[in-house]
Amino acid sequence: MPLLIRNGRVVTATDDYTADIYCQDQAITRIEARIDPASVKGAEVIDAAGKFVFPGFIDPHVHVYLPFMGTYAKDTWETASRAAIVGGTTTLIEMICPGKTDEPMAAFETWLSKAQGISSCDFTFHMGVTRFDEKAERQFRDIVKRGIRSFKVFLAYKGALGVDDRELYHALKLAKELGVVVTAHCENETLVDERQKELIAAGKAAPEFHEPSRPVQVEAEGVHHLMSFAELTSAEVYVVHTSCDEAVREAVCAIERGVKAHIEVVLPHLLLDQTYTQKPGFEGAKYVMSPPLRDKSQLPRMWNHLRSGVVATVGTDHAPFDFETQKTMGKDAFTKIPNGIPSVEDRVNLLYTHGVAAGRIDLHTFVNAASTRTAKIFGLTGKGTVAVGADADLVVYDPNYRGKISAKTHSMATDYSAFEGWEIKGRPSVVTVRGEVMARDGKFTGGKGRGRLVPRA
Ligand code: URP
Ligand code: ZN
Ligand code: ZN
Repeated sequence: MPLLIRNGRVVTATDDYTADIYCQDQAITRIEARIDPASVKGAEVIDAAGKFVFPGFIDPHVHVYLPFMGTYAKDTWETASRAAIVGGTTTLIEMICPGKTDEPMAAFETWLSKAQGISSCDFTFHMGVTRFDEKAERQFRDIVKRGIRSFKVFLAYKGALGVDDRELYHALKLAKELGVVVTAHCENETLVDERQKELIAAGKAAPEFHEPSRPVQVEAEGVHHLMSFAELTSAEVYVVHTSCDEAVREAVCAIERGVKAHIEVVLPHLLLDQTYTQKPGFEGAKYVMSPPLRDKSQLPRMWNHLRSGVVATVGTDHAPFDFETQKTMGKDAFTKIPNGIPSVEDRVNLLYTHGVAAGRIDLHTFVNAASTRTAKIFGLTGKGTVAVGADADLVVYDPNYRGKISAKTHSMATDYSAFEGWEIKGRPSVVTVRGEVMARDGKFTGGKGRGRLVPRA
């Protein structure tokens, strides 16, 4: 059914104006000062007076199907996409993370099968390069032909997902040849491994020792390492979940030398600090992710990098593991706690609340970092802005809503929220995916399987 959104304050990465928006056949077809509802009979009319109309938000970094650290992430594409949509995110980019002995094409088909026909929001993938040899290379070429125009490499997770320097070099060379962006988890895996052994041997096994096992130098070294390789190969790179000023500076230094690099920050590193992993009992395990939550002093520095545009995108690194049955796998050693924090549902509302409403970033930076720049970097056709011809992925956003986050009411499949009890100032009133209303006022109203693989430029 066609859709008319009236009287909303349309905010994009560059513009801010009041208008009516008409959507037909999945796209935005008219944006005008006033469109008479009588002239578009049969359209569903939504009154957006007093509300913002944002482009659908895009999360550049999620894990939904994730075999990891001896278990599987908790969400399915049904639960994760519903949670995303309720929170205003209409496109997800998931990391495909094959084991080292898995064939890349088989992994691509597996990950695709988990989303296609099930996801309610649109989606695409970063193809994990966890092994690089001739056989794998042929498959990466075919996967790129299938429209997956970004790779993911892990410099961390020794012996599991991590690549060695030979593999990194050749993955970057292939990416350069194919015009593919390489996203990278940057931590020096050897340093992590050695420090973990030292800490455990010293009886320091609680969740709070996760951070000392991979301090800021470990991450900054990882970024420096990637940048040296990117400089030599001229590949375009994207540093995921940058958690600290030291790591950002390594990337900025490289950008100043001419390296084509982008920096992502994820929500937990803007809002949570290391003290959360020091909570009494085993509670701190809820906050174990990698790179780890940092000292409080890092948070304002990361917000500054976002405000100045040095940080390009804000994702979540949504990696959902239950507290009771999964995080507890690391009761005796923090090294066995499945890494990750669930937050795909909360990114937009928390970024609006602690960014825009708190005066840390303006509306354009908010839209740019949470949607537009991701669409541009990863070539997501039709996404990331409100314009005639763009996909009708729209978020009618009520800045006057007040509420609280709780695992009791969230749509994610996990048994806890890292933001339990946190207040949100603002929430999506209506969320559309290619012109179809999929959520209203915090409730999912859409159907299963509407999401499709986003064409990539
Ligand atoms: O702690 C994290 N980040 N878990 C998910 C896997 C990854 O490194 O992105
Ligand atoms: Zn990672
Ligand atoms: Zn991740």
